[in-house]
This record gives sequence, C-alpha cells and structure tokens, in this order.
Amino acid sequence: MGLERARNIADLRELARKRLPRMVFDYIDGGADDEITLRRNVERFRDIELTWDALVDVEKVDTSAAIMGASMRLPFFISPTASSRLFHPRGGECAVARAAQAAGIVYACSTLASTTLEDIAKAHQGPRWLQVYVWRDRALVEELLTRAKAAGFTGIVLTVDLPVAGNRERDGRNDFSIPPRVTFRTASQALAAPAYMADMLATPPISAANFAHLKMESGIIQFVNAQFSRSVTWEDARWMRETWGGKFAVKGVSTPDDARRAVGIGADAVWVSNHGGRQLDTAPASIDMLPAIAEAVRGDAEIIFDGGVRRGTDIVKALALGANAIAIGRAYLYGLAAAGERGVARAIDILEDELKRDMMLLGRTRVSGLTRDLIFQRRV
Ligand code: FNR
Ligand code: LAC
Repeated sequence: MGLERARNIADLRELARKRLPRMVFDYIDGGADDEITLRRNVERFRDIELTWDALVDVEKVDTSAAIMGASMRLPFFISPTASSRLFHPRGGECAVARAAQAAGIVYACSTLASTTLEDIAKAHQGPRWLQVYVWRDRALVEELLTRAKAAGFTGIVLTVDLPVAGNRERDGRNDFSIPPRVTFRTASQALAAPAYMADMLATPPISAANFAHLKMESGIIQFVNAQFSRSVTWEDARWMRETWGGKFAVKGVSTPDDARRAVGIGADAVWVSNHGGRQLDTAPASIDMLPAIAEAVRGDAEIIFDGGVRRGTDIVKALALGANAIAIGRAYLYGLAAAGERGVARAIDILEDELKRDMMLLGRTRVSGLTRDLIFQRRV
C-alpha cells in the first residue's frame, strides 16, 4: 500500500511497521509494563457514543481554534516526541515542523529532539513551543529557555510525568538504544529494513541535538534517567514559569488537584496526558481523566488533551468533554516513519477530513459547538 492509499491512521501505522526496523517501530508503538494504559487510551474512545442534531445547515464548517495565544486552522496540533530523526533520518523534526506549519497548527517540539531548536525554528515560523524536563543541572534549563526565547518560541511545556522513564519492555527485548547499538538482534532487525538503514547511514548520527555536549551513548532511557532531576517540585515549576515569562503549560497532569496546583504556579494551560501509556501503566485512559480536570480548572486555565487520538471522532469527544485543543503523538509519527514530511501531512489531512465530516454529521459547524450534549448518556 502506498501513502496515497492510506485511508486512516491505522494504515499509516502499517506503513511505518513495514518500513522501520522492529526496535524503532516498537519505540513508537510500545508502552510501559503490560501496555494496559496504552491500549485503554485508544479503546475507551470506542466506548463513548455520539448523537447529533439533524437538519442543520452544515454547508460551511469552521475547524479553527486557539490555544495558549496561538490561532490554529485545526483544533489539534503536534505533541512533543523525542528523536524524530530516528523515525525518518532524512526528515526528522524539520519534516514535522514544515508539515505543521503548512497545516497552520502548533508544533510542540521535544527537548530531546534530534534537531536543534534553532534549526526547528527555521522550519516552522508559526507558533511553536518547546517542551522541557527539569534537569539535574538547572543551568541547563535556564540556557534552554534563553535559547528558546532567542529562537522565537512562543510557549514552554513542562512535562511532569517522567521523574523516571517508564518500563518499556519492548525496548529491552529489542536491545533498543539511541543511537542504535550493533548487536546480533539489532543488526538482524536493521538488515530487514534496508531502505531505512540506507537513510540512517547517509545522515549524521542521532543525538540529543540540543545537548550536543551530553552524549546519549547508553540510549535515550538511560540518558533520561541519568540527566533528569527527581527532586523537582511545584516550586521548580513556578521558577521555570517565572524565568520563561511567556505562555506556559504543564503536561502530564492526571488529577484535578494537580491541575489546580498547575494553575496555582501560574500555568496558562493544563495538559491532560499519561504520556501515551509510556509511563505509569494502569493509569486511567486520558479521556477518562479529562472531564474532572476540565471541571476543576474551567475559566482559570486552558485544557490541552492527548492520548489515544487516532480518529476525527476522538478529537470531537475530547473537545466535547472539556479540552480546548488536542495534541497527537503516534498518529503523526506513523506518518513521519512512513514518508517523512509527506507522511506527517497525510496524517494531518486524514484527521482533518474525518473531523470535518464528523462535524457535519453532528450538525455542529464550529469547534466551540462540540459540547458535552453530543455525548450519549445511556439510561440504565
Ligand atoms: C513521546 N512523548 C513525549 N512526551 C514529552 O513530553 N516529551 C518527549 O520527549 C516525548 N517523547 C515521546 C516519544 C515517542 C516515540 C512517543 C510515542 C511519545 C509523549 C507524547 O508527547 C504524547 O504525550 C503521547 O504520544 C500521546 O499519546 P498518543 O497520541 O501517542 O496516543
Ligand atoms: C519517551 C520519553 C523520551 O516517551 O518522553 O520516550
């Protein structure tokens, strides 16, 4: 199946699986422990049912939305993901940035990008955010914020659900590391993906490009565990927001109490997320965490949602249950892995087409009209 034949995100996932070495595909596709939350993020959307308003003039549908001061053509945008050049060595973060800019949506790029934030800024002149962790070395954080400001980033996203990396058992079984280490297992997987390997060998080695002086030889998860601070508190988050001085989101919030704490330190947005099921397994599906958190901070902060979004109806449901904007992770990574910038653009187009059709079928012509009354309440 070629890219143009891909009908949905699942088709893009299949193209990614065929093109990537198993260990690289599993790094995208996998989750923590028994992958219960990974599966539930997707499955719980299927349990939520929608009803519609009939006989509404839906000739014109407006999918635009705004989040953290950024106006977007669509109510969804790009979630931060590490090492995008690992998935498409020639394209990487710049391919994602170009596709996001062309679609008129925000690119929230990862602190662990395989391209420097300065180079990403050249590929996406629109509203773009930098996602950060709190490092043991606070000076590193301060330097990153200064660089982000100088490069015109319009928002900072502090990820708070990763004091330690989740237990990604697929990665252990695959001897996965970034850059890939040569073992019998990795070599045999690489030989099974010749086109990918040709690209990998023809491009610079993968590294944490924003921290060139910090080598990631042992692999991204070991790197994360070695470099990230575990003593981070809400006061550190407050320090970071004040140091940055611009739009600030807290990503990886699972409870109304933490959502209120994020508002308390001055966050502009609360990002409801369980890191795509890659961190604490048996966390609730993101969509089940959303309503109570949205209720708790309504009017005091905007709500961003991610986790399990693979369909236009998933976007509708998350907006209806209280999110102001939706972020996608694997949905665009499958496209990136399949075909670089064209693949990311295809993923965005698939979700945009589905969303527009769903809004017409629902009888709602604006994103603000995707409200809770659309969610079917079973009478028991
Ligand atoms: C991620 N995610 C992530 N989040 C973050 O804050 N910083 C990061 O560097 C990464 N890296 C990363 C790599 C890969 C391969 C994946 C799949 C995910 C989590 C990401 O931002 C988002 O929260 C989830 O991916 C959302 O779930 P879905 O859309 O993938 O189901
Ligand atoms: C991950 C980390 C890098 O999810 O955020 O792989």
